[in-house]
Amino acid sequence: MSLEIRSPAESDVPDWIRALNVGFHRSPSVAEGETAMRRPMLDLERTQGAFDEGRCVATFRSLPQELTLPGGGLLTASAITNVSVTATHRRRGLAGRMMATDLAAAKERGEAVSILVAAEYPIYGRYGFGPATWVTGWEIDIPRAALDRRYAGPDDGGRVDIATAAEVRKASPALFDRVRLRTPGTIKRSPLWWERTTGQTVFPSDGPWTEPFFAFYRGADGRIDGLASWEISESHWQDKLPTVEAKVQQLIGATPAAERALWRFLLSLDWVNRLTSGLRAPDDVLPLLLGDPRAAHTETHADFMWLRVLDTPVALSARGYGGGPAALVLDVQDPAGFAGGRFLLETDATGAARCTPTPAAPDLTLSVSDLACLYLGDESPVRLAALGRITEHRAEAARTADTLFRTPRRPWCIDVF
Ligand SMILES: CC(C)(COP(=O)(O)OP(=O)(O)OC[C@H]1O[C@@H](n2cnc3c(N)ncnc32)[C@H](O)[C@@H]1OP(=O)(O)O)[C@@H](O)C(=O)NCCC(=O)NCCS
Repeated sequence: MSLEIRSPAESDVPDWIRALNVGFHRSPSVAEGETAMRRPMLDLERTQGAFDEGRCVATFRSLPQELTLPGGGLLTASAITNVSVTATHRRRGLAGRMMATDLAAAKERGEAVSILVAAEYPIYGRYGFGPATWVTGWEIDIPRAALDRRYAGPDDGGRVDIATAAEVRKASPALFDRVRLRTPGTIKRSPLWWERTTGQTVFPSDGPWTEPFFAFYRGADGRIDGLASWEISESHWQDKLPTVEAKVQQLIGATPAAERALWRFLLSLDWVNRLTSGLRAPDDVLPLLLGDPRAAHTETHADFMWLRVLDTPVALSARGYGGGPAALVLDVQDPAGFAGGRFLLETDATGAARCTPTPAAPDLTLSVSDLACLYLGDESPVRLAALGRITEHRAEAARTADTLFRTPRRPWCIDVF
């Protein structure tokens, strides 16, 4: 039997998409028109497939993505997606082989980190990835939330307006660029992303399109500072009492006022007694906007974006740090050989840093996966030291690392990719 891993040829693309649909339990086949819609997303040089006697049985691809870092810097990351192995060919090392090829190619291209959204927790740690952002989803029991039922809109000079899908397509990309620059962990949205979220392009495997409701928040100066979209996912009445659930699809704000106003607006929709937030940063303001935060039940709390450092000096020099001038020597262990070594991280009063190889004695030893957990500011080095995952060679070194790496607000990767 011939089994080969290679980039698909143009003529393999429909079968590659079929294998992806099978691997993700979407559909056993490819609907008419789907190949033409998905084809522009594929860079065949960065796409791999495993072919068994010519038939595609595994898929993998990556693309460059601009990632926002703590301090507001931007880094081109290699974003891995569409990883699937058909059930008939599982656990024969196909995913591992495609990953090894892709990571080596990303390193060669000079991409300092790879990122992905893990379908299941145990898959990617073995390749040097670690969870770099987490998400929380809440369900709000609105009658219990102790909100002022006379709420009549923002009192900060701003306003909330219902928007059409066409208005969203026009105004939101510029808004999102402002949002992502203030949100470490976030990546860019493509024009196709906006087309899909507003129904202009519907992939057959996405299922039937239902138009959501959209609203903008405009600040006192009239500028669009926020966007929310939601659907009514359940609605029935019994004994003249409504059971209505609003499901938030997205809520983004370029200012805290926009976030507050849009949440407050959604929490005050008449009839709605349950609101689901979608996946938010774990420290989203939502629960504390309620008079009674216990009315926010955690539905989901989980790891979301995983990251793999490929070039430690480039990655660590690109982000900003807290805590003023400091120096720390990190001994990074990476059995795959991409990012390991001993590095001196020197930060200045502005939060800028230089990271260079050093022969000096280390302050901390950590795995490349644990470096990923720290990279966007989410995890606490003190906590990892308590777990025995980070070794301190100098007293208080983990505490120093905590001051440097951890950010006041947690990073958030807003989108699945
Ligand atoms: C996850 C998936 C891609 C793994 O592919 P695969 O070719 O079976 O993986 P490999 O054979 O290369 O596995 C490498 C190692 O990872 C382990 N592994 C793979 N998938 C795992 C999972 N879901 N849970 C736990 N361990 C897993 C394997 O057991 C193996 O471990 P070993 O080296 O100790 O033997 C495949 O099962 C799949 O397509 N699943 C459904 C779709 C999916 O979840 N895709 C990932 C999207 S992010």
